[in-house]
Amino acid sequence: MARRRQLYEGKAKILFEGPEPGTLVQYFKDDATAGNGAKKGIITGKGVLNNRISEHLMMRLHDIGIPTHFIRRLNMREQLIREVEIIPLEVVVRNVAAGSLAKRLGIPEGTRLPRTIIEYYYKNDSLNDPMVSEEHITAFDWASVHDLDDMVALTMRTNDFLTGLFVGIGITLVDFKLEFGRLWEGDEMRIVLADEISPDNCRLWDAKTSEKLDKDRFRRDLGRVEEAYQEVAWRLGILPEA
Ligand code: C5P
Repeated sequence: MARRRQLYEGKAKILFEGPEPGTLVQYFKDDATAGNGAKKGIITGKGVLNNRISEHLMMRLHDIGIPTHFIRRLNMREQLIREVEIIPLEVVVRNVAAGSLAKRLGIPEGTRLPRTIIEYYYKNDSLNDPMVSEEHITAFDWASVHDLDDMVALTMRTNDFLTGLFVGIGITLVDFKLEFGRLWEGDEMRIVLADEISPDNCRLWDAKTSEKLDKDRFRRDLGRVEEAYQEVAWRLGILPEA
């Protein structure tokens, strides 16, 4: 088969042209970065695990009616996705104080928040993905009020569903990041979940011990990073391929 044309290379993934118009192939790398590229490393096997974990979670979300860009997994490191127009925002959902929120507001890590908090960050590496408000988003036309309403509704449903799913396997969903895209079908546009959902962009703590089972193990040099990702896959019932 002819080599596919590469369209974009990000920190953890590469996008290739898909086999049919309107499709792309998303390739998961083992590369890990933190602090917007300030710290770089390789987590052996991460790409394979994130491909499987994201496939599993996107399929479960599809089952409850949340539209996503995911079509199907192609192999160990690649999945077929719908081509969407990415909205340049990172939507962060927080259930428990951790990371930048804990630091910025001086709230001890692990404090359960009075309610779920949604934050928006403008996706721009050269600006270090600054936090923005709905005012900025609509004023600069990154998303319309209607797009934002859809994104918030999808985000809250995703959080409710994933929180329950993880509770069932002894994991606390502390916080996570979502990205959305616009999917055009003729003149109709709908907002769908894009990118990936994996331990790279979620904080996942063991419910009993609070052991971190996510990328914070890499960010904070805690060791046993790959093992943590494997543990999440194993608890989700994703078994290694024969
Ligand atoms: O660093 P911070 O506490 O703001 O991260 C909140 C959540 O968003 C974490 O789960 C983190 O993994 C995720 N995140 C991400 N990509 C970024 C920033 C944060 O996946 N660029």
